[in-house]
Amino acid sequence: MKMNRLGGKVVELKKLYKAYGDKKILEGFDYTFSKGERVGVIGKNGAGKSTFLNILQGLQEPDSGKVNIGDTIIFGNYSQQGLQVKTDMRVIEFVKDIAEHFPLAKGGTLSAAQFLELFLFNPDKQYTYISKLSGGEKRRLHLLSILFRNPNFLILDEPTNDLDLPTLGVLENFLMEYPGCLLIVSHDRYFMDRLVDHLLVFEGEGVISDFPGNYTQYRLQEDKKKMAGESAQLTVKPTVAPQQATPVEKKKFLLKKNVSLSYCRKKWKI
Ligand SMILES: Nc1ncnc2c1ncn2[C@@H]1O[C@H](COP(=O)(O)OP(=O)(O)OP(=O)(O)O)[C@@H](O)[C@H]1O
Ligand SMILES: [Mg+2]
Repeated sequence: MKMNRLGGKVVELKKLYKAYGDKKILEGFDYTFSKGERVGVIGKNGAGKSTFLNILQGLQEPDSGKVNIGDTIIFGNYSQQGLQVKTDMRVIEFVKDIAEHFPLAKGGTLSAAQFLELFLFNPDKQYTYISKLSGGEKRRLHLLSILFRNPNFLILDEPTNDLDLPTLGVLENFLMEYPGCLLIVSHDRYFMDRLVDHLLVFEGEGVISDFPGNYTQYRLQEDKKKMAGESAQLTVKPTVAPQQATPVEKKKFLLKKNVSLSYCRKKWKI
């Protein structure tokens, strides 16, 4: 896919502070996003991940500090708020209202109908009224409507919670080829492992650490730390070395090839 042009600057966060009463979310957080960065965000419920995403996009003010967003940045934000449609209309009309087409990196474009097909809306469904879609179909439409805007900084807040497996398969394939900046909050280690290069770990109390690996590697490190802590507490050393946790084989959400951009390119001769 071809992206909206990214200028030099992506997003710079400088000395961000945020608290709700005495609940600390950010404590002097500094970070500069670079082009094409793929970041996972993890942390316990209530650690402040969603608040952080809102501040990053300029949707919410920090208590202090600066958020500098590059002039060419177009955010795409998938959260669980769901699809907001003021007036009911057919699915295809709704998508056509968003953009003329979706540009592909290697040239050519996908029409609204083709994009809908990629996201598993067959022609019948494309002519259905939005009010007649199921909850899952509405969420899928919400997701694709965000992607069809062709954002160059995509933020997904817990996408694996409320999308079904076929949709996650299409999304995963799409994101594998996505050239923009990608930020994903998820507890799903398989999804994260395939898509992100490093993690921002919300440890609580405003502490955020940058882990240079994927979720599985992070869990392994945490398990090792825990085992080291436990064995240090023992007065007698164990005679058998603790076994290392073995990473679970990565699961693919869907193996159907007709849900990838490259397959569609061939099919539609783009
Ligand atoms: N507007 C608000 N006013 C007061 N407290 C808030 C507000 N929004 C969030 N909080 C609190 O701040 C903390 C962080 O919330 P946030 O939604 O950012 O966490 P999160 O890491 O995204 O959690 P989850 O994993 O459950 O989605 C929570 O304890 C929440 O109750
Ligand atoms: Mg959240």
